[in-house]
Amino acid sequence: MTKEPVQIIYLNGPSSSGKTTLAKALQHAFEEPFLHVGIDKIIGWMPEKVNDWTGEETPIGYSWKKSKDASGNPIQELQVGPYAQKIGKTFQEVVLALAKMGHHIVIDDVSFGKQQLDEWKKTLKDFRVLWVGVNAPLPVLEQREKERGNRIQGSARGQFHKVHVDVTYDLEIDTHRASISENTEKIKSLALYPSHPIEPEAKTLIRPMNAHDIAKIVSRYCFPWSTPEKTQTLWKTYYQEQQDGIRTVAVLEKIHEILGYGSLLRKPECALFAQKNIPEINAIWIDDNHRRQGLGKALIKWLEDLASQEGYDQIGIGVGLYRDYGPAQKLYFQLGYAPYGNGITYKGQPTVPGQTYPLDDDLILWLVKSL
Ligand SMILES: CC(C)(COP(=O)(O)OP(=O)(O)OC[C@H]1O[C@@H](n2cnc3c(N)ncnc32)[C@H](O)[C@@H]1OP(=O)(O)O)[C@@H](O)C(=O)NCCC(=O)NCCS
Repeated sequence: MTKEPVQIIYLNGPSSSGKTTLAKALQHAFEEPFLHVGIDKIIGWMPEKVNDWTGEETPIGYSWKKSKDASGNPIQELQVGPYAQKIGKTFQEVVLALAKMGHHIVIDDVSFGKQQLDEWKKTLKDFRVLWVGVNAPLPVLEQREKERGNRIQGSARGQFHKVHVDVTYDLEIDTHRASISENTEKIKSLALYPSHPIEPEAKTLIRPMNAHDIAKIVSRYCFPWSTPEKTQTLWKTYYQEQQDGIRTVAVLEKIHEILGYGSLLRKPECALFAQKNIPEINAIWIDDNHRRQGLGKALIKWLEDLASQEGYDQIGIGVGLYRDYGPAQKLYFQLGYAPYGNGITYKGQPTVPGQTYPLDDDLILWLVKSL
């Protein structure tokens, strides 16, 4: 029932931006095995004599050509002869073959702008790819280039202004401003899950919770009807359930602030959903000051995408009946949820005509949606 879709992480950045180091760190950080493939590795398959990295031009392979940037600074521009062009296309087909074999892959590449990246997007259109732009300030790249000693001076500058032109990424990282482990965590939090960075300029993103979130959530979302201790225990349980694969908690983060959360529960609270193996969206909350901005909708979409990727074809949700649940009722109906048809339950049990039940959080109408 559960699918294991292939995850590809495509790292694009100029020479010396730190892609290879990042790719290796990602291989280490993921529990699942990821193959690291890179343009440098494919170049290693070519006969050495067809390429020239010393500044001489070569007709069929890769070589450098001295040039100047817009400000007149010396740069080295990559020349791509016909055999090198064939190698570039071969690289894409090799990655495609590996993906079809079911490998998770980190690609470490230098694509020059939108047009070249679109070719990759076309080749990998049937796979889930996290597109990551890797960068660092130019003086840092030039310094690294000098220190490495095996790179021709001017290649980083030559690529710096071209690599990211008109490209939109799922995530952009700066290998100078953030540490390797911070960048790895960021990528990891978006990979193997549906990734929805929303409002990229405002740095709002939805990602699975991590252990560091517990303290932040407990201090911000401890409600009057609970205590800090109970809230802490609840979130530790949620986190453990996530580790056990029972639950995934999506958190909505904006510049390190958690603005909301919601879960996908694979062992649903609703007995009828459990019998039919319908996962349940559970415990959705958006910060009071950030409501009516589309965040609730985005969070639910993320959870639906996750369920769909895991192979579920239906998803359920329960909603309370009193006034405080009004916004949630409107939201769920707007998103296409419809009554499941089992009426209303109280504390998980069917309600019986003629009986009375308190109008509280345990009196619930169950809704379902096809994915
Ligand atoms: C329900 C909740 C998650 C909605 O979050 P949100 O980020 O404000 O929702 P969105 O901005 O994505 O709203 C999407 C749509 O839902 C409906 N909606 C949301 N809040 C509404 C409100 N107060 N009144 C009327 N409609 C509302 C609207 O149709 C809205 O679309 P619109 O803004 O284009 O008109 C939020 O109100 C909340 O956290 N409530 C308290 C916790 C809760 O009830 N959780 C659900 C438990 S079942």
